[in-house]
Amino acid sequence: MKVFIVSSQKGGTGKSTLTVNLAALECQNKHSKVAVLDLDPQGSSIFWKSVRQSPEPKVLTVEPDSLLMTLSELEDDGYTHVWVDFPPVQKKWVRKSLQYADLVIIPTRASPFDLHSGSLTLDWAKEIGNKVVWVINGASVTSKTAEMVLHTLKKEAPVCNTIIHERNDFVLSIGLGLGVIEYAPKSKAASELKQLHQEIQRLSK
Ligand SMILES: Nc1ncnc2c1ncn2[C@@H]1O[C@H](COP(=O)(O)OP(=O)(O)O)[C@@H](O)[C@H]1O
Ligand SMILES: [Mg+2]
Repeated sequence: MKVFIVSSQKGGTGKSTLTVNLAALECQNKHSKVAVLDLDPQGSSIFWKSVRQSPEPKVLTVEPDSLLMTLSELEDDGYTHVWVDFPPVQKKWVRKSLQYADLVIIPTRASPFDLHSGSLTLDWAKEIGNKVVWVINGASVTSKTAEMVLHTLKKEAPVCNTIIHERNDFVLSIGLGLGVIEYAPKSKAASELKQLHQEIQRLSK
C-alpha cells in the first residue's frame, strides 16, 4: 500500500485540491483501492466526499493519534493507495507522522512567502530521511514565474517537473464532488494532473 502525505505549514496551497484530485484519478485504475484520510479540522476532503455520488474513494476523518492504526486497517482491508490531507499546522505530531508516508508532497504557490512557509515540512521530512517533493500549484497561465521558480528550486530541492496551473476546472469540479479527470477529462487541468500523478507514482517507488 502506498501512502502519500500531502502537507505544508501554509494554508491555501492546494493540499486538499491535489489530494482529492489525485485520489479520484487513481480510482480510475480498476486494480486500485483508494482511500483519503482527512486530518484537517476544516474537513475539505470530507466536504468533497459529502457532495460526491461515487462510493470511491473511501474518505475518512482521522485524528492524528489514530493515523497509524487507520493506515494499518486500510492495508489489512486491501487498500492500495492512500492520500492523507494534513492541516497547515506546525505540531510535533505532524513531524512524527511524516514517517508513515512513501512520499511527502508539499504543494506550494510559486512565491517566496509560500516556499518559505512550506520549507519546514521539507526540513522535517529530510530529518527523518523520508522522500519528499515540492509541487508547484496554482501557477499563473499568463506569466512564466512558476517556470522560473521551478528552475531555481530544482537546484536545491526535489520538485516535480509538472506545474499545476490555476484553472477553473479545479474549482468547479470540487463543488460537484468530482475530480477534474471526471469533470473535464480532456482539459488542461486533467492533463497536468495525469502528468503529476505519473511523476508521483515514480517518485514513491
Ligand atoms: N490549481 C488550482 N487552480 C485553481 N484553484 C485552485 C487550484 N488549487 C487550489 N485552488 C483553490 O485555492 C483554494 C485553496 O485550495 P485548497 O486545496 O483548499 O488548499 P489547502 O488545502 O492547502 O488549504 C481553494 O479555493 C481551491 O479551490
Ligand atoms: Mg485543505
